[in-house]
Amino acid sequence: MTDHLDPAVAFANDRAHVFHSWSAQDLIAPKVITRAEGAWMWDGDGNRLLDFSSQLMNVNLGHQHPKLVAAIQEAAGRLCTIAPFHANADRSEAARLIAEVAPGDLSHVFFTNGGAEATENAIRMARIHTGRHKILAAHRSYHGSTHGSITLTGDPRRWGSEPAIPGVVRYFGPYLYRSAFHATSEAEECARAIEHLEQLLMFEGGHNVAAIIMEPVVGTNGILVPPDGYLAGVRALCDRHGIMFIADEVMAGFGRCGEWFSIDRWDVVPDLIAFAKGVNSGYVPLGGVIMSPAIRETFGQRVYPGGMTYSGHPLACASAVASINIFRDEGIVERSCRLGEDVIGPELEKIAARHPSVGEIRGLGCFWAVELVRNAETREMLVPYNAAGADAAPMAELANALKARHVWPFTHFNRLHITPPLVISEEDLRHGLAMVDEALEVADAHVTG
Ligand SMILES: Cc1ncc(COP(=O)(O)O)c(C=O)c1O
Repeated sequence: MTDHLDPAVAFANDRAHVFHSWSAQDLIAPKVITRAEGAWMWDGDGNRLLDFSSQLMNVNLGHQHPKLVAAIQEAAGRLCTIAPFHANADRSEAARLIAEVAPGDLSHVFFTNGGAEATENAIRMARIHTGRHKILAAHRSYHGSTHGSITLTGDPRRWGSEPAIPGVVRYFGPYLYRSAFHATSEAEECARAIEHLEQLLMFEGGHNVAAIIMEPVVGTNGILVPPDGYLAGVRALCDRHGIMFIADEVMAGFGRCGEWFSIDRWDVVPDLIAFAKGVNSGYVPLGGVIMSPAIRETFGQRVYPGGMTYSGHPLACASAVASINIFRDEGIVERSCRLGEDVIGPELEKIAARHPSVGEIRGLGCFWAVELVRNAETREMLVPYNAAGADAAPMAELANALKARHVWPFTHFNRLHITPPLVISEEDLRHGLAMVDEALEVADAHVTG
């Protein structure tokens, strides 16, 4: 009998039997990870790698946080599973705590297994609550890969699932560096992005629109921090037309941006929040929708037509409870904010000044993008939008240069994202950024102007 924990056996079984997401199966060679701790993980050859992506921007508390592991072990000893129609102490407490940290009067939580089911249910709630069908969703966005959530998604990952669900209308959000509105200042970008939404509502009929969904700080599609005033402007438009504001905080929430939810930075209260990832650092799959009392009331006497066998799973909810308590005890939200302001931002400024391939850096908390260009003047992207194969080679070279320096990166199109666990030590963070500084020479070699 073979030992399935042997890294070589794990790799062989993976190749023989595992079908991977978002991949051409023959073109990948997944790295075997045998253990992980804090911001570090170890591969099958015993190399120690700095996790500069928090996996998929979800391991906010780092790997194997002892209190989080203990909470799951303890909960498993008490009650491993119970159906969603029962009341359960871990679920009740998780919902109470999530409502407590949520903005404004948001009061009730519908639990899901992850982010896609969260956005999927948020639009279902908004549609039934308003009695309307249209949803406005942004270009340059990601909302999940189930059929509704992938329809909301504004990037090429949607294309393979089209034709998609009906009723989704696309808008441009603010992105001054590549402004869809030819704006030259944050204030102009903000005003024009709001005006664009206003026009869209005129053409679509605001009274037909159930919800506007957005990532308040856009994640995978660029870590796009909105200009001050934008989210308040969207809130005002929603109020004027009776539209639900859905904030997709799946990636940006739970401390990632140095706030409990990224939208808190602008003191705007949405009607619905989709969350997942950082709620429990993904130790057990969990997501959900936080809703306003008004939306809860819609389903007071009327059945909510949705649910999953594992909604509010006790192990997942116990880990969410432990996670929120750790956030509070260890000041994780403040820490994320401080690391962004004192370390990542200033270090990236210096890096940008040294490397001609860096077009722009932007971000907050532990959520940053380094946007790479061939030409700083024309802003030509280092690799084209959605590049693959040979076209994407410069970014693959950069990722490999970081891996060779034992830093595990997250890259997307022409960007390197800096998204470490929020518990990373300042020393490890500075080390990782120094490796980024070194590795960027690979990108500089492709600069043409
Ligand atoms: C903003 C956002 N929404 C939704 C999702 C989907 O979450 P999941 O992969 O848990 O389904 C993601 C995943 O990356 C995300 O970043």
